[in-house]
Amino acid sequence: AHARKPLISGNWKLNPQTKEEALTLARGIASAITDSTPDVDVALFVPYVFIESTMSVVGGKLSVGAEGVCPHSNGAYTGGISTSMIKSIGVDWVLAGHSERREIFGETDYYINAQCLKILDEGMSVMLCIGESLAEFEADLAGSVCATQLKKGLKGVRKEDLDRVAIAYEPVWAIGTGKVATPEIAQSVHAKCRDILAGMYDRETANMIRILYGGSVTPDSIDDLMAMPDIDGALVGGASLDINKFGRIVNFN
Ligand code: G3P
Repeated sequence: AHARKPLISGNWKLNPQTKEEALTLARGIASAITDSTPDVDVALFVPYVFIESTMSVVGGKLSVGAEGVCPHSNGAYTGGISTSMIKSIGVDWVLAGHSERREIFGETDYYINAQCLKILDEGMSVMLCIGESLAEFEADLAGSVCATQLKKGLKGVRKEDLDRVAIAYEPVWAIGTGKVATPEIAQSVHAKCRDILAGMYDRETANMIRILYGGSVTPDSIDDLMAMPDIDGALVGGASLDINKFGRIVNFN
């Protein structure tokens, strides 16, 4: 039995390219969730333009989340999508701090923190992504990078809002590389993250927060990852675009 209810999530990133493909994928994933699926929460983070139509085909079997948000309330922020906008269409979950947002779009810990606070203020849940680069991993800095990203990302987040926070540990060297972290490596960083959260809040609170692993998760790696005591789910990129693969991941053993 898992200490926390597992959360299996997919991040479609800049895929697929048409609404038709998105709905076919979403329908297939929803139908892979059956009565014999473990007792898990499932969430799919999808491009904004597909959110509402995806919601309409999954029959409430999973949550459809947004891949990000603009932390400003309203006004002259061309291209932005606000928390109020996505909340008004029924979104529960929002991703923040993905390494691609940090690296490619230049989002800082400060900006990511503003997103987290705004998402929580609006009553939605946030999945905060953290993780070290390959150079940092090789320099044995995974724990300290995660500590910094957790402390800065969650700055000002109240303890009573943490039931709407999940953490996704995604080592950058494992994202899209086919190099999944070993269950042992992932477990040791997850345990460190939980200790950091215990230091920021308290042990009881830290024990309640779901910490997901992300980075080249496939049907071949999910079972061993999920067997680890501090791995409470997965954030899946590439394999979430494949009905059979994601279907198997949701139905992990
Ligand atoms: O957010 C999920 C992610 O970055 C992992 O991607 O393709 O390695 O599963 P992937």
